[in-house]
Amino acid sequence: MPQFPASALPTAGSVPTILLTGATGNVGTELTRLLAARGIPFRALVRDVTSTAAQALQALPGAELVAGDLNDAASVRRALVGIERAFLLTPSSAQAEAQQLAFVEQARQAGVQHLVKLSQWAAAPDSPVRFLRYHAVVEAAIQASGLAYTFLRPNLFMQGLLAFKDAIAAQGQFFAPIGEAEISVVDVRDIAAAATAALTETGHENHTYDLTGPQALTHADLAQALALAIDRPVAFVDVPPTAMRGALLGMGMDPWMAEGLVEDYAHYHRGEAAVVAPGVQQATGRAPRAFADFARDYAPAFGAASSVVAN
Ligand SMILES: NC(=O)c1ccc[n+]([C@@H]2O[C@H](COP(=O)([O-])OP(=O)(O)OC[C@H]3O[C@@H](n4cnc5c(N)ncnc54)[C@H](OP(=O)(O)O)[C@@H]3O)[C@@H](O)[C@H]2O)c1
Repeated sequence: MPQFPASALPTAGSVPTILLTGATGNVGTELTRLLAARGIPFRALVRDVTSTAAQALQALPGAELVAGDLNDAASVRRALVGIERAFLLTPSSAQAEAQQLAFVEQARQAGVQHLVKLSQWAAAPDSPVRFLRYHAVVEAAIQASGLAYTFLRPNLFMQGLLAFKDAIAAQGQFFAPIGEAEISVVDVRDIAAAATAALTETGHENHTYDLTGPQALTHADLAQALALAIDRPVAFVDVPPTAMRGALLGMGMDPWMAEGLVEDYAHYHRGEAAVVAPGVQQATGRAPRAFADFARDYAPAFGAASSVVAN
């Protein structure tokens, strides 16, 4: 596989041949920014075209929004008309597997040539982690469909720490049932860069990229790097899985999802996500961002004095 695949791009001003799902989410927001910055037109399937996130998308050059829902087959069919490459991302949920399998079949019927699927590190059909099992089922279906594919398997998102930004800003603490296990956390901006490459260049067909950051770090390491970036003490507090489950359910999280996150953290705790992999470099030709880069760029969100979040 070439390290810097040759470009084979639709150009600005042409009709979009790329369809994005999940375009208003963590990865999708960065992906749409990158596509727009490169002048690549894209179509985004969004549930509510009037939402703030959808309106922000609409303002990007080259963006075409179509109203639709992955649970509504007719809307997905409409969105796929004229599409050559598609990006498949859903949130993890009890419906995710069915939603994604339906999308794959519809993409095949619509004549899509290449599917880029946002999967997850260590996806496997026999994993004890439900998220990793459903991702593996969908990957297998895509391979069986005959479509060209690129599987992006990111490790834990650095941006996941933003869920704790209020606790970090107010109390200087964040929590997880992970002990001293290391994880090669990855920046969402690098995942989006890999997706951009797979959607807009040749050479990524039928590749699986394990996407990690450049270092395996404990959560205590993350706390230390954040503290340095925001110039205030930050402590990581290890908690038992029962405390995590209780907190998530207490926040009103769906029990299937809460249990999945507990399984996910047990997997991290076992040290199963500590390998540093070359996927970001392979897919994008660039080294992945370090956690220190993330901490510096997002310091304002965690309560630091300066105010610009860099991209
Ligand atoms: N978090 C991690 O550390 C991590 C690590 C590895 C892999 N992953 C994988 O990353 C994925 C989540 O990515 P993310 O964090 O970018 O997601 P996210 O921020 O939760 O965004 C989800 C997106 O899906 C859209 N969506 C939800 N339900 C939909 C439906 N029924 N029909 C159409 N669109 C729908 C949402 O649109 P609306 O605007 O309509 O809500 C939103 O754009 C999961 O598959 C997870 O397994 C996560």
